[in-house]
Amino acid sequence: QRQWTLALLKPDICANAAIIPKIQQAMQHHHLDIVHYQDVLWSLDDAERFYAEHKGKFFYQRLCGYMTSGPFQAYVLSSPNAIKDWRQLIGPTHPVRARIMQPTTLRALYGLTDTRNSFHGSDSIANAQQEIQFFFPNLNLHHL
Ligand code: CMP
Repeated sequence: QRQWTLALLKPDICANAAIIPKIQQAMQHHHLDIVHYQDVLWSLDDAERFYAEHKGKFFYQRLCGYMTSGPFQAYVLSSPNAIKDWRQLIGPTHPVRARIMQPTTLRALYGLTDTRNSFHGSDSIANAQQEIQFFFPNLNLHHL
């Protein structure tokens, strides 16, 4: 039984090319297989569509501005518990909280602020499918 999740390495991480191999090593170390990845550069419209569920929240514009500030990377990761495994590896949404509660997580190590938190991970099977479709529309989810 395998599961798939969508992981994003957000623009602040991708601005520092030396960090990316370290993140990929962490994925592999946690048995998260990289099945697909692509470089992405979003328009504001792309960001607003992906983050539509946050429309109206106080951080929405800041979030969309951040995610359009430069190139980033989208990954499809696979493991028996990929959704939970990747979210555990990245840690709490807020990097300052992550540094206190879970100091070895990726957001604790690399995250900057509540918005510029460096990573994304799908939070459910339904959202993973939807988010994978968003970035990889040609993938047949049944043949991942
Ligand atoms: P992500 O996991 O991609 O999902 C929504 C994003 O909104 C989140 O990462 C952060 O980048 C941002 N975000 C969530 N909560 C806050 C907050 N309280 N203040 C600012 N930005 C936030």
